[in-house]
Amino acid sequence: MANQSREQWRSRSGFLLAAVGSAVGLGNMWRFSYLASEKGGAGFVALYLVFTLLIGLPVMLAELTIGRGARRGPIKALAHFGGATWRWLGVVFVAAGFLILSYYGVIGGWTLRYAFEAATVGFAADSGAHFGDLASGFDSLAMQIMFMAMTMLIVSGGIGAGIERVARIAMPGLFAIIIGIALYAFTLDGSGAGYAYYLNFDLEKALALDVVVAAAGQAFFSLSLGMGAMLTFASYLPRESHLARETAVISFADFAVAYLAGLMVFPLIFALGLDGEISGSTIGALFVALPKAFATMGLVGRFVGFAFFLALVVGALTSAISLLEVLVSASMDAFHWERRRAVLTAGVLVTALGAWSAFDIDILDLADSIAINLFLIGGGLGIAIFVGWIMQDPIGEASGVGTKPILYVVWRGLLRFVVPAALLFILWHALPETWEKFRAVAGLG
Ligand code: TRP
Repeated sequence: MANQSREQWRSRSGFLLAAVGSAVGLGNMWRFSYLASEKGGAGFVALYLVFTLLIGLPVMLAELTIGRGARRGPIKALAHFGGATWRWLGVVFVAAGFLILSYYGVIGGWTLRYAFEAATVGFAADSGAHFGDLASGFDSLAMQIMFMAMTMLIVSGGIGAGIERVARIAMPGLFAIIIGIALYAFTLDGSGAGYAYYLNFDLEKALALDVVVAAAGQAFFSLSLGMGAMLTFASYLPRESHLARETAVISFADFAVAYLAGLMVFPLIFALGLDGEISGSTIGALFVALPKAFATMGLVGRFVGFAFFLALVVGALTSAISLLEVLVSASMDAFHWERRRAVLTAGVLVTALGAWSAFDIDILDLADSIAINLFLIGGGLGIAIFVGWIMQDPIGEASGVGTKPILYVVWRGLLRFVVPAALLFILWHALPETWEKFRAVAGLG
């Protein structure tokens, strides 16, 4: 039954690099650092780690298991293991992919713009006004289109020759850059205040409900979970791959990059005395406070700033690729399209939807809130229930030879009870925030 002509990764490391490329992205740098500053630093980081371990790991293994077992895109994969009704969960995944990629492409465009400016004219001294000018409007749209065109080009190359080949070059480069910048930030006078801010743990702050909700959503977003992206990548894996080990590697790399991003962002900002810029943290924090820091650092700032935004571009691209691949693989399955046609159709539609976010940053913020609080958390709940309760013999599907079954029994137990309970709790408490944003944008409140 499984489709014999399906594309495959060229190697294990190729799959891993692509999956890490999906996980590591704007979520780790832009989203993680603005949330860490808005939600009080170390407490948020600790909760984010807890959610990564307790919910992220089991859900990732669940997605990989479904994908590799079914060897199909998300919609058909769920139908394969759960019957036709479960197809609808796959349809929800595809909708989530559309929504996320629509605004992700806009932010990707901002990173392209900053990298380009660092290389040519340098950083504007009045970074706040500059960000205001370029974040929304025709400039933003133009950069979003450019970013999406690059994404489409890579995905049209296919799994091995497109996605895997790019990840193989891009990911080691990205790691080198962020480790380099984190080390550089350590050498700056006054960076100590940045570490203190980032690493000081305050239990009371960490247990506030909004911090818990934000940390859970961030864990899902950062690990690319809850909408079938990992599922889709796993559908191109050979049978013999060791899914539990891949889950551990991907999750560890993703957490490491987020943690490192904090180690570069906060020391840099504090060393230059710009901490006032992040206290009123918004989605623009990274694009305002950091460029300002780079602008005051002269030539070194140009160089470090260029490297920083290049790393962001690379991270954003390898993540956008995985989002687009979900839409592409689902439409290739459903309509028997060729890859190119699927890429062109899905890419153009997503870009058109994203134009809305390119013109209005409040829409972007709302789309992010809906995507994560509703779609990803809800999608993760669906996956946990599916693998925990519906799928026949998930342990057999997940484990290969030479693995310790007890680990899988714990995994299934988590998926059956702990993960659904935690996600229901999060979903329930996340809804009001999204609703408030919706009311504000719709002009109801
Ligand atoms: N994980 C990516 C990031 O941190 C974003 C991303 C890529 C994503 N694919 C996804 C998020 C699928 C949710 C689902 O930037």
